[in-house]
Amino acid sequence: MTFLYLPFWFFKARILRKKHPLQTVIFISDHCNLRCKHCHVISDRPPITKSYETIREELQYSYDLGTRFVDFEGGEPMLWQENGRNINDLIRLAKKIGFFSTTVTTNAQLPFDHCEADSIWVSLDGLEHFHDEIRGEGTFARLEKNINNLTRKHVSVNMVVNSSNYTNVPELIEYVKQSPKIKSVSLNFHTPYEGTESLLLDWKLRKEVINQIITYKKRGYPIMNSVSGMKKMIDNSFKDYCWVTNFILPDGTRLPECTGKTAGMCDHCGLCMAGEMHSVMNFKLDTIWAGLKLRAQLRIR
Ligand SMILES: C[S@@+](CC[C@H](N)C(=O)[O-])C[C@H]1O[C@@H](n2cnc3c(N)ncnc32)[C@H](O)[C@@H]1O
Repeated sequence: MTFLYLPFWFFKARILRKKHPLQTVIFISDHCNLRCKHCHVISDRPPITKSYETIREELQYSYDLGTRFVDFEGGEPMLWQENGRNINDLIRLAKKIGFFSTTVTTNAQLPFDHCEADSIWVSLDGLEHFHDEIRGEGTFARLEKNINNLTRKHVSVNMVVNSSNYTNVPELIEYVKQSPKIKSVSLNFHTPYEGTESLLLDWKLRKEVINQIITYKKRGYPIMNSVSGMKKMIDNSFKDYCWVTNFILPDGTRLPECTGKTAGMCDHCGLCMAGEMHSVMNFKLDTIWAGLKLRAQLRIR
């Protein structure tokens, strides 16, 4: 089914120029167990946790728009609960509605081996003190323990590279390669939402880091980003296709594109999905291959 729907969507998007989203990011809550220095979701008001019913409506709305992939975001998704329901009930709901695949992004401070998402992304912003510097003391140790306790190899990690952790990128890539529990790493750059500007990585250093990542990728390291997509992130001067993902925020606001666009962040965007989408839409085979591999991933149980 996925392999019929994707070419159909691509034809409509690229040839007929119909801007229908393919994937959805739903913030199910902005309640979190961490206070990360770089976080763009955190706010001063009391946290909001959406009800199962609200999430059901948002999933159905997105499905009706044509999206078939959903990423449950937070806050911390593993904290979501309602009358004995947990994140797995949302995953099953999405599948029942018809989504092909579900993704959860977690800070891994709580055990998550039970999570039934097709893809689980753990946010890992460096090793040891590099991670703790951004996410708080003891967070790396808890993350490592919960990853080591996994009964199967079903997670990838996401590093957000910033001015305080960029020197740790090579070590982190080596760590991922050697880990018996981690499949791959995806690298992104800090996007300087208000109050987090000091973490923005200087453009010259960003280019150096990107070239480093490309070298590792070409040597066969398990890096999710494609070479074509990474190259686009060197100066952000490319046509964006960010309408491919619609966003539904913790307060229920429905955005047809990334939150960064509304916040005027595109010139400083570090979300490498932007480069990946540009490359897919421009028929870059390495990116299409990376995307298909990601989408076709089956959970190994
Ligand atoms: C907001 S968190 C929520 C999920 C979960 N609590 C976690 O920490 O992974 C989702 C992802 O957004 C990333 N993120 C947060 N603020 C960011 C920023 N300013 N620029 C780029 N990525 C950011 C985080 O590192 C994380 O990988």
